[in-house]
Amino acid sequence: MGSTVPDIDPGVRQRLTLRFGSEVRAWFDELSGLLIALAEKWQFELGSQIPRGSVAAVFHCRMADGRRAILKVSPDRRRLAFEAAALGAWHAVHTPTVIAQDEQLGALLIEAIEPGTPLNVSSIYPATESVGELLGSLHGSAVPDPSYPTVEKRVAYLFDSSAKLYEGHSELLALVPRTLYERGRQLATRLAQQDFPIVLLHGDLTPSNILDGGVKRGLVAIDPAPCLGDAAFDAVDLILWQADDLETIAARIERLAAATGVDAGRLLGWCVAFAGMDALDRASQGNGPRSRRPSGRDAGRVSTGWKSHRSCCAARRHRGMGVRFFRSWRPEFVRCAPLQRQIRVQKRGSKVVPVGTPNRPNAALHARDSTSAPERR
Ligand SMILES: Nc1ncnc2c1ncn2[C@@H]1O[C@H](COP(=O)(O)OP(=O)(O)O)[C@@H](O)[C@H]1O
Ligand SMILES: [Mg+2]
Repeated sequence: MGSTVPDIDPGVRQRLTLRFGSEVRAWFDELSGLLIALAEKWQFELGSQIPRGSVAAVFHCRMADGRRAILKVSPDRRRLAFEAAALGAWHAVHTPTVIAQDEQLGALLIEAIEPGTPLNVSSIYPATESVGELLGSLHGSAVPDPSYPTVEKRVAYLFDSSAKLYEGHSELLALVPRTLYERGRQLATRLAQQDFPIVLLHGDLTPSNILDGGVKRGLVAIDPAPCLGDAAFDAVDLILWQADDLETIAARIERLAAATGVDAGRLLGWCVAFAGMDALDRASQGNGPRSRRPSGRDAGRVSTGWKSHRSCCAARRHRGMGVRFFRSWRPEFVRCAPLQRQIRVQKRGSKVVPVGTPNRPNAALHARDSTSAPERR
């Protein structure tokens, strides 16, 4: 089928360059040829580019039979191959169908989800039932293949990549002390190592990777970074999203645990483990474009810059919220009964002491209390 290759979105080019380094230029040089070859091979008409990818260039397409599809091409062929394998394994309403893939070419053709608005674009917080259905379908429908990486590896990757947010931004150290961040890593590692039923995890279930699939289909997950581990891990981003206080988080955990049967203590444990990263992520967004330092937890949200005064103000509000969220959590962490149990388990199993302990609240956080209140904007 005839295809005209659209101009490559500069934001996508920038994000991929930041992620993969300047060597990705050679890949971009060959991209037009690759797209034309793929259109010929898989018989689709190439449409416009979706200006949102951060590890891939993503395009609308139309198949010869009229079906709408999405083409993803990425220099990270391995990641795309894992993505295709997991999407193929799920066979679910809540993930797109794989139409074709070519690991060598680093290309994946999948069903287009309609209307397909990502949660972080609509900003609509989904109902617990929808989240429960999504998680249940992801975690219940596939037999885990042992060749996927472990969640422990994923944790290490996420903490390593998000730590780059500190680079050149020492003010973030005052907001989220490095010791606290590292305790989050220790707790997450410990949770990952614990003997718990293993499922195939999506691994990157952030609001930007969850699409509105319409009334019949509900939420649809795209762009997995599949790994093997405890089901509770996948819920963290949604539980923390748009949450400004512990009550919201506790209520979400309770509702989600009731709806899915996922262990509430584990949900809370993972939330605590990622709280520092989440606060760092939120705080860093108020400092200007995040594009220079993609965060692992939600690299898809990396933006190329503040496009308008409005988005800039929104980002500042977000930053204040992140800090408030983080600070208000601290005493609550200490009092929270399920968390205390979680921490005791951790302490018995090892010397790791996560964010706070029931009897000895985190010293670094107490030090934070004596400093002046962070800027509210
Ligand atoms: N199957 C799909 N249906 C509809 N839109 C999609 C689909 N897959 C991706 N998209 C759109 O493309 C964007 C980027 O895709 P994604 O797979 O998340 O790329 P990346 O791996 O670079 O983050 C998504 O946020 C979404 O807007
Ligand atoms: Mg994505």
